[in-house]
Amino acid sequence: MRQKIVAGNWKMNCDIAQTYELLDALKENELNDDIVVMVAPPFTNLQSANQALIDSTILVAAQNMHQSANGAFTGEVSASMLRSVGVETVILGHSERRAYFYEDNALLAKKVTAALENKMTAIYCFGEELEDRKTGKHLDLVERQLKEGLFHIAIGDWKQIILAYEPVWAIGTGETASPEQAQEMHAFIRKIVAKSYSEEIANKVSILYGGSVKPNNASEIFGKPDVDGGLIGGAALDAESFMAIVNAF
Ligand code: 13P
Repeated sequence: MRQKIVAGNWKMNCDIAQTYELLDALKENELNDDIVVMVAPPFTNLQSANQALIDSTILVAAQNMHQSANGAFTGEVSASMLRSVGVETVILGHSERRAYFYEDNALLAKKVTAALENKMTAIYCFGEELEDRKTGKHLDLVERQLKEGLFHIAIGDWKQIILAYEPVWAIGTGETASPEQAQEMHAFIRKIVAKSYSEEIANKVSILYGGSVKPNNASEIFGKPDVDGGLIGGAALDAESFMAIVNAF
């Protein structure tokens, strides 16, 4: 059975007081052992979040990292630095990183390699813009994002990969992909993983959907056979909404 995962990407939200408040509220909930729950606060709060969650099964992920081990890269943070504060998962290639910080597939391939070398789990994000979908290029584009940014990894490294399909037009817009659109894309993703690697790997990798997932649409989306959970933005900032999504399976 594939791992079910719900991860909250807090983006550039929550100072330290708000982080403790949100984590305290999340910790009040009984969690189902079958579902991996993660939160990704900003860099400044990762260590505190990890300590606050020491007696919880909720995992802490980073939202980004640099591809180099260390050096003159002002403002950046490396994989080993994340590991040194107990963070073992990192989100890579989020569409906001691609759009506002010019991260392309070639750069992301290096980040993926750095994460794997440091024995981290990478949540590799990708997804098309509205224009790509309107012109029927969405499948090709997603295939390229996967092949150029991820498919250099060795077969044995797939156990450290989580995929997150996030159509850009659905992020923060309130307009979610329909469960059928999500299923179609997730099945396509599994097919190209199977073609480039193997059926076994394709069937094992968790593929999350992200883009305006809310308590009122989560169960329909999570109910699709190739959707293994969600990467949640706005609704992850409210404990009640986030827990309702976690419990939507
Ligand atoms: P929203 O849930 O706010 O649309 O954000 C999705 C997202 O970008 C998660 O990484």
